[in-house]
Amino acid sequence: MENIFDTHAHYDDEAFNEDREELLGLLQNKGVSHVLTCGTDLMSSYRSLQLAQKYDFIYCAMGFHPEDIAEERKGDLDVIRDLLKSEPKAVAVGEIGLDYHYDDGAPREEQIDLFRRQIEMAKELDLPVIVHDRDAHEDTFNILKEMRPKGVVHCFSGSVEMAKEYVKLGFYIGVGGVVTFKNARKAVEVVEAVPVESILLETDCPYMAPTPFRGQRNDSSLISYVAEKIAEIKGLTPQEVCDITNKNAKEFLGIK
Ligand code: NI
Repeated sequence: MENIFDTHAHYDDEAFNEDREELLGLLQNKGVSHVLTCGTDLMSSYRSLQLAQKYDFIYCAMGFHPEDIAEERKGDLDVIRDLLKSEPKAVAVGEIGLDYHYDDGAPREEQIDLFRRQIEMAKELDLPVIVHDRDAHEDTFNILKEMRPKGVVHCFSGSVEMAKEYVKLGFYIGVGGVVTFKNARKAVEVVEAVPVESILLETDCPYMAPTPFRGQRNDSSLISYVAEKIAEIKGLTPQEVCDITNKNAKEFLGIK
């Protein structure tokens, strides 16, 4: 397979500290043509930008993940805004969103406030948003529907009905390793229900490795297993899935 566009990676993660250079150096030989690596707080966004500056095929998103909300200090968003404005390889605001999974997570009002401010920033800069939604489907959808940025719901875990609503609003659906899991009925139904023109491929690496690598460290080359599964569902070849979703990602991120 070639032409793989991984629209959601975390190559600044410490899981890659041992062999990052070697791994990234080999990705293009394994069919990966582009990667969007996503920051989760200010320092992680910096590190992501450095990777994008170093490697031609890597782009970055910068922003505050809802789990890292406590890391945000006054003025941080202004720093990110300035970098997004001036750095050509910084092409999206992310990873941002809502996470209601943990009872001791950040208060919902604070998450919503930061999510809204980051969407506002993205609209102002005319950049897309990379959205994280865990156990917060209603609030995430309502905010995105109201504010209408360009966006992808990464690792989409909502219902088929909600996926269709997102597509109607022009959002993309991020599909990764979960669709290959044995018990992934809902993820498979979502892929069945939405047009392939609305799908973006992603890893969320180092997490979410597809079957048969579930539980191991993930990387962008393993997207081939995700493409195979989507191809089977959609009646396409895996290469067609890579080609179409590569085009989707380029349009979405404004990459030539
Ligand atoms: Ni992520």
